[in-house]
Order: sequence, then structure tokens, then C-alpha cells
Amino acid sequence: MSGHDPAERQRVSVATFRSMKKQGRKIVMVTAYDYPSASIADSVGVDSILVGDSYGMVVLGYDNTIPVTMDELLPACRAVRRGATHPLLIGDMPFMSFQASKTEAVRNAGRFVKDGGMQAIKVEGGRDVSRIVKAIVRAGIPVLGHIGVTPQTATIQGGYKIQGRTADSAADLIEDAASLEEAGAFGIVLEMVTEEVAEIVTERVSVPTIGIGSGRFCDGQVLVLHDIIGLYPRFTPRFAKRYADAAGLLKQSIEKYASEVRAGTFPEEQNVFRMEEDQRQQLNARRKT
Ligand code: KIV
Repeated sequence: MSGHDPAERQRVSVATFRSMKKQGRKIVMVTAYDYPSASIADSVGVDSILVGDSYGMVVLGYDNTIPVTMDELLPACRAVRRGATHPLLIGDMPFMSFQASKTEAVRNAGRFVKDGGMQAIKVEGGRDVSRIVKAIVRAGIPVLGHIGVTPQTATIQGGYKIQGRTADSAADLIEDAASLEEAGAFGIVLEMVTEEVAEIVTERVSVPTIGIGSGRFCDGQVLVLHDIIGLYPRFTPRFAKRYADAAGLLKQSIEKYASEVRAGTFPEEQNVFRMEEDQRQQLNARRKT
């Protein structure tokens, strides 16, 4: 992390990412989708916040990331922007916001910056999207690439299958990473890539790699917030680490609140507002007449 005292910290930029790789300092990225979690992530000094399309699953309850739209993601970006002033803020281009044409891709990337307050965007795909990456970068918007498992096209990949298990798959990933770097991406997310291949990609590219389920040798790590805090009831991927049981805490708190309301023990004295004594007397006198 780039310094814990908020007063001392400067806003993290794409250039900070580059110099962190050079200096061998690990980059910490986390997803967030709202004001409170973004401000907490900022206060502990994360380097970057990704408003991921995982929002569609962990917040909106879709089965996968395909349905989430630009119009759903932009308000989340604005809330994160209001909460976080130091980390590099990255908006995740949702499915079908960039595939149809370069023009549409540039326009939607621009919406993340102009309407969402993001400083960069992320696009899933390797060589197949490098011309789109180039167009967005040319328009002046920094792009984070994303290869390995790419959930938006998981059906074509045959599901969420670990990538880089074979020499051919490794060669593909290395080529994908090189083409994204060549297109101007400032970093590359590696999702569910074997540790060996993630290490080779990390050595081969000059831009930072950010791993998720891709082992220990990436330049940084990203996890979905709800996996870290234990707030996604459907499953926690094996590569994620759960640091808390937020779902359990929420359940306990709501249960306690419900039972106190039913028992009449909430609200308590300190939760109620009272009239001034003279006003109460006046009211009582009026009620008697
Ligand atoms: O949408 C997301 O949260 C992501 C990360 C898992 C990299 O793409």
C-alpha cells in the first residue's frame, strides 16, 4: 500500500502502478461498489479500487456478470468516487459495452470517466480486444487488461476453467499479455492462471500484473470485497481468503433488532426524543380543555 496516513498519501495514478512494479512493491486492489466500503478501503490505504462487474452478482444478485449494464454500474462508480479520494479508481466495462465497435467502446469508456468519476477502465480479453484497448488508450483513457478466466466469456472458455495448465495455453496467455501491453494497457489482471504461467507473464511484461487466483508472483492482488468479508452467500472461490463473517454479523444484528422490537425493548430511553417540560405542560393543559 502506498502509505497509511491519509494526510501524507497522494492519489495513486497509473504512473504509481508502474513505479511500484519497478520497486517490487505489491499493489493492493479490492472491489467496492458503494460509499461506505470505498471510504473504508481508502482509509486503510489500498492502492486501487475496482468497481467490478461482479457488482451484478454480489450486490444485484444476478447469476453471473453478463446482465449488468452501464446504467447500473455508473451510480456505483459515483458512490465509490464520493467515498475514495486516494486509490486509483477503475470502472469495469460490462459485457457488450465494448465488443460491438471501437466507437461504442470509446464512448462507454468515456462515460466511466465523465459520468462515473473513474480514472481508468478495465476490459476483459486478450489479442481479440487489443485493437479496442488501443482505441480507448488513444482517446486518453487508461486501460487495465484482464486475461485468464474472463467471466463475461466463460461459456466460450467452457466454464471457469483454470488457464495455463498446458504449454499451448501458456503460450496463448503470454501472447495475449504481450498484445495488451503493446496496445497500451497500463496493467493486466490475471484471473485463475497457474502460478507458473502467471510468474512468466509477470516477468515478460513491463506493466504490473494483478492476480486473482493466479498465485504469489503477480505484482499485485485483487479480490472481490464480498469474498474478503464473507458477504456473498452463494459461494467463496477457493483462491479467495475470507477474513470475516459479515453475513453472520448482519444476520445476528438483524435477528437481535427484530427480537427487541417484538419484545418492546427497542427503542430505549437514549433512542427517543422528548418535549421540553413547559411545552409538555402546555400540551396537557390544552388536552384537558
Ligand atoms: O468484476 C470483478 O470484480 C473483476 C475482478 C474479479 C478482477 O473483474
